Order: sequence, then structure tokens, then C-alpha cells
Amino acid sequence: MTNSSGSNLDRVLVLEMVRVTEAAAIAAAKLIGRGDEKAADAAAVEAMRAAFNDLYMDGTVVIGEGERDEAPMLYIGEKVGNAPGKGPRIDIALDPLEGTTITAKAGPNALAVLAIAEEGCLLNAPDVYMDKLAVGPGYSPDIVNFDNGVRENVEAVAREKSVSPQDIIVCVLDRPRHEAIIAELRAIGCGVALIPDGDVAGVIATTNPETNIDIYMGSGGAPEGVLAAAALRCVGGQFKGRLIFRNDDERLRAKKWGIEDLDRVYDLEDLAKGDVIFAATGVTDGSLLRGVKHRRGGILTTESVVMRASSGTVRWVKGEHRIA
Ligand code: FBP
Repeated sequence: MTNSSGSNLDRVLVLEMVRVTEAAAIAAAKLIGRGDEKAADAAAVEAMRAAFNDLYMDGTVVIGEGERDEAPMLYIGEKVGNAPGKGPRIDIALDPLEGTTITAKAGPNALAVLAIAEEGCLLNAPDVYMDKLAVGPGYSPDIVNFDNGVRENVEAVAREKSVSPQDIIVCVLDRPRHEAIIAELRAIGCGVALIPDGDVAGVIATTNPETNIDIYMGSGGAPEGVLAAAALRCVGGQFKGRLIFRNDDERLRAKKWGIEDLDRVYDLEDLAKGDVIFAATGVTDGSLLRGVKHRRGGILTTESVVMRASSGTVRWVKGEHRIA
């Protein structure tokens, strides 16, 4: 059934999604700084799955913890929700713990994150790397693109922002594979915000003037690219993604997911189309959200954001959870 926004996604699901990311974040938070990435991830996965299975929906995980043989829960293709065959058919992209290493080391910007859309509206991205370019809202279309080099992209954004290229701040994952990009950014003289992990938050940071980040550049996980694109569909901004295949096995995996053109450049709508709901809860403090906090008296606090593409509404949700 189509609602007033022309979407089949029930608006009730907007706030339900916060419950789901809250559950994952609270579970993962118990493992912050414990040096155990796997345990933190497993806790988040289990909690997110249980929360989804409480919901009236016929959900399918299209981006999840991996393929069925490598992930026991929330694997790609897993059905979630308590109304299979009856409830709304929804595709889900999820990362119960985006930033497993960050969580294990108590670093910044770990999130529990998901996006939902009507069936067939999220790119079934294989778990390969993706080259990413993103800017916040308000720029001319294609202001950053893969045809331009690092310098041209920075200069184009600087021109439209009416600042010098040296005033531009670019967020990049701190990885040896980004040495050339970082060297070029240093040669331009602009600011480089190096993040240890967590490029979903890095991409979203371009949409928030408080972060000072103008551009996101570099490669990271393709599934994380779809999640970040879902968020930008709701708040505005531009995102370009191009899958990177390092070997035949990865190329084969792409074919399996129906990807024919291996060099394709994906825009926002190619990654997440139609109505999309994006939700995230902070696990550790970060540029987007504060992390889970333990207060006296068994109270846990959470901070979440939930957004919807069809309405453009962004809700910031603070939760207090009384844990028995
Ligand atoms: P995990 O939560 O799976 O550890 O991912 C963290 C992350 O930093 C992502 O945000 C990013 O897309 C990807 O890893 C980058 O991959 P790599 O660590 O291989 O450079």
C-alpha cells in the first residue's frame, strides 16, 4: 500500500529502525576497549537480528555480514522480521558494528548502522572495495568526479565554496593504499582529516558543516558505500562510487550479484533508490553521534539519527535505557 509520501515504506518503521540500531549499539558497547573485534561484532549482530525479528515485516538482508557460508547471522539473503509472506517486503543493508577495530580500541566513530528500502532499491554490492568521492549538499552536479584528479576535485569545490584550495579539508581513511592521494593533498596544502576506520561516518561528515570536512576521498568497503549513499539520499550531498576488483574471484562475485559493467560509476540513486530510511546509533563518540554511555543507577544513554529520503526528515533521538 502506498502512503501519503508515495512510498510503500510504512512511516512507523522510521522509529522502529532506531530501536534496531540502539539494540546493536548497546550490545557492542559492552565490548568497547576490550581488544576483541570479533566479540564486539558478534554481540552487535545478535542484538540487531533479534530486534529485526521483533518487527512486523518481511525483510531480506541484501547487504549484511557476508555470504551464507561465512556468516552465521544476518548473512546476505537471510530473511528477518516476524511476518514472512505477510508484512511489507523490505530490503535491508546493515552493518551492526561499523568500526569493529575502533570499538576494540575504544576509538572514535563506531556506529551501528542500517538502511532499508523497498525491494530491489539497494545495490546488492559485493564485499569488495569501492572508490568513493563525496561532498555535502549545495554544489553543482558532478562537482567531484573520477574523471578529475585529486587537485581538480579540490579546486572545483574550493571555487564554489569561495575559498582557496588550502582551506579545503578532505577526509581520507588512513591506509598505505592512500599514500598517493594524501601526498597530493599535502602538495596542494589543504587539510587532511585522516580517520583510522569508519568511512560511513567519514562520508556523512561532508554533509555536516560542524565537522569542517568538505570532501571524502579514497577507497573503503562497497557495502559501507551503499550505507553512506543511503544517508546522503536523505540529507543531500553527492556521492560517486566505483567498485574495485583485485582478482578474478572478486570479479566472479560481482557477476554473481548481477553486476555486469565492472567499471561503472555509481551515483546516489544507483546505490539507494526510491524511498530509503537510514538509521545509526553511536557506539563510541564520533563526528555524527555520541556513543553509548553508562550512567549511575543502571542507565544507559544512546544517541541515534534516523532519516528518510522521501520526506527529507532527519530525527536525532536520545535514548535512556534502564537496564535491570
Ligand atoms: P569494519 O567495521 O568491518 O572493521 O569496517 C571498518 C572500515 O573502516 C569501514 O568503514 C571501511 O569501509 C573499511 O573498513 C575499510 O577497509 P580496510 O580496513 O580494509 O581498509
